[in-house]
This record gives sequence, structure tokens and C-alpha cells, in this order.
Amino acid sequence: MADAIYIHIPFCVKKCDYCDFLSFQSTKEERKKYVDFLVKEIELYPKYNYDTVYFGGGTPSLLEPEDVKKILSKLSINKGAEITLEANPKTVDYEKLKSFKEAGINRLSMGIQSFNEKFLKKLGRLHNSQEGEEAYKMARKAGYDNISLDLMFSLPDQTLEEVKEDLQKMISLNPEHFSIYSLIWEPDTKFFEKLEKGEYKETDNDLEASMYEMIIDYSEKSGYSHYEISNFSKEGKEARHNSKYWRNDEYVGIGLGASGYIDGIRYKNKMKFTDYYDSILVGEKPILEKEEVSEDMKEEYRHILGLRLLKEGIIPSSLEKYKKNYKELEEDGFIEKKLERYILTKKGIFLANDVFEKLI
Ligand SMILES: C[S@@+](CC[C@H](N)C(=O)[O-])C[C@H]1O[C@@H](n2cnc3c(N)ncnc32)[C@H](O)[C@@H]1O
Ligand code: SF4
Repeated sequence: MADAIYIHIPFCVKKCDYCDFLSFQSTKEERKKYVDFLVKEIELYPKYNYDTVYFGGGTPSLLEPEDVKKILSKLSINKGAEITLEANPKTVDYEKLKSFKEAGINRLSMGIQSFNEKFLKKLGRLHNSQEGEEAYKMARKAGYDNISLDLMFSLPDQTLEEVKEDLQKMISLNPEHFSIYSLIWEPDTKFFEKLEKGEYKETDNDLEASMYEMIIDYSEKSGYSHYEISNFSKEGKEARHNSKYWRNDEYVGIGLGASGYIDGIRYKNKMKFTDYYDSILVGEKPILEKEEVSEDMKEEYRHILGLRLLKEGIIPSSLEKYKKNYKELEEDGFIEKKLERYILTKKGIFLANDVFEKLI
């Protein structure tokens, strides 16, 4: 039974140069119309009781607090639920953050990416370093006691020292949680174009590994638990919603292009506004494709998602086909037994993709 819902908000003020998430520029009217359709889409699902609600994007903070309130009022939400909204610093002020909180949001995930002006410009971000910091401080003042920040590293021509400065600055702000992603060169982005033209180059593998190692060491020394490959938190502040994905739990996904996993079926919503609206208008879920997850596939998902949870790991599968791979991975020092579970070793964390490949 799904107890989590992801709500996709496919709007951004402007596309960042590295990002290929499903998001578009929009008018206020278009956003209003979209919210009305989200509400209709919610009605196409059974009334689940939600333990976590996640507004992701795009830029959910582009919505008006009243829109968020309208959506939340259609959901049956458990007491003590985690209700997260992704926010871009350029789209919020103190009043708006306060109103989001009054609407029910109790966790913010803010896209900071860097505190270095040079990289913020390169990334095509709309905010400068000070605006990033101020948005965080405004959120604190507005009463949020659960804030996550997003940072990126391995940016074009970034040095280890520059990564450390960003990390130190972020940790000095004392967020409950942060995600730190190494840059992915996504096709069809300005970054990729520049890579192909030779204007940018990829970070050397050894340097990227040193950056990651420094991030882990410094964060742990600063009191953060490295509980997932790209995620760090203070005790008890792990992302509850995302942890459900990693545990391979079922969840509802609504909105343009959103994915979901219900009753053993993984699905993905339509990715064009007209198709999405047309389905909902005739009272149908706007699903583009779905796939029934077989027992074998479920085991694969359980492995590659579950091992990302570095403290928790996975209960070993009873299926014969895994036994040989577990043994080899253990002998080669990629995974280890912790009580009755397998977790990635330090070596395994650095070469996680190789481990996952061996398990699918
Ligand atoms: C939906 S955005 C967060 C909220 C808001 N849209 C913003 O950017 O401020 C999700 C996060 O994904 C990360 N991200 C996006 N594209 C990425 C890429 N190509 N490589 C690595 N991280 C990326 C960024 O850290 C970003 O904050
Ligand atoms: S990083 Fe965030 S603000 Fe930038 S384009 Fe992607 S979703 Fe939009």
C-alpha cells in the first residue's frame, strides 16, 4: 500500500545550463491550470493515507502557497507526515516561505549548487552566492526546522580546494540534511554542447574520487552521517520520502512525466502538456507507459536501490543466482555483512556502479 506521493512541478524561471529535468518556462495562468489538473489527477487514485509528500521539479517554489494548500487539501495525510517542497533561492522571499509553511510544508530542499560566483554563473543559476545564503536564512526565520541543501561538484575546471570551500560554507550554515551530486553531463544541455566543442572537459577520475573522499571525510567529521551515496544528514534527519524509493517501497507519482510504483506496477506519466491534460479531461490516468515488475526485477531493484542506503543496505536474496555474485563481491571487498544485511564497503561506495552492474 503506497504511503508516499511525488508531485512533479514542471516549471522553472529559466533552464540551468546542465539540467535536463522535465521543466519549462510558464505564465501564472499556465501554472494555475496545471494545479487544477493535478487536483483532478489526485481524484483518479484511491484515497491512500500518506506518510510523505514530495513536491519536486522543476521548481515547485514557483507555485503560489495557495496552490500548494489546494493540492494538500485533496490528500489524506497522516499526522507527523514529512511534507517537502523543492525551492530555488530566486523564487522565494520570507513571506512566501512563511506561507508555504502555513500551507503545510515542513521540509524544504533548496537548490544552492555552489557558493562560488564563478560556478554559479557557469551553471546558469539565477541567484548569486549571497542570495543562496539569504534564502536559507529566511527559511530558518520563517520557522523551518528541517532544511536540505543541494550542492554540486566536479564542475568544469573546479579544484579540490574550491569544492572544499563550498562544502565548508554549506556546513557552516548548519542544515539538517544535504545532497551533493557530482555533475552528470546530460545530452541536450548547454553543458554537453560545450563539452563536445571542447570548451569544457570532464573532471579527471582520480580528482573526482579525491573530491568525493574529501566530501565524505569532512562531512562525517562535521557531524553528518553519510547515509546514502549522495546524501548526508544529522541524526534522525534522513530524507524519509527518498528513503522509501531506496527501500523499493511503492509510491504514487502525479504530474507531467512523473513516475510511480503501485500494486507491483511501475509507471511513467505523459510528458507533453496536451497529452497529459487530454487524458485527465476524459477521466483517465495520464500514464504513458507501465511495466509489471516481475519477482526477478523486484529483486534487481531491491539490490541497486537498497545498497545505496549505506548504513542499512539489503537483506540478502534467497535466489540462487545472487549467491555467487555476493561471494565474489565480498571477496573483492566491495560489500560486507553487517548483522544479517549486506552493505557497501568504502571501496564499494566509490565503485558503486560496478557493484550494481554485477547485481542486474
Ligand atoms: C529539481 S532541482 C532542485 C530545485 C530547484 N529546481 C533548483 O535547482 O534550485 C534538483 C537538483 O538536481 C541536481 N541536478 C540537476 N541536474 C544535475 C546534473 N546534470 N548533474 C548533477 N546534479 C544535477 C541539482 O543539484 C538540483 O538542485
Ligand atoms: S536545476 Fe532546478 S532550477 Fe535549474 S533547470 Fe533544473 S530544475 Fe530548473
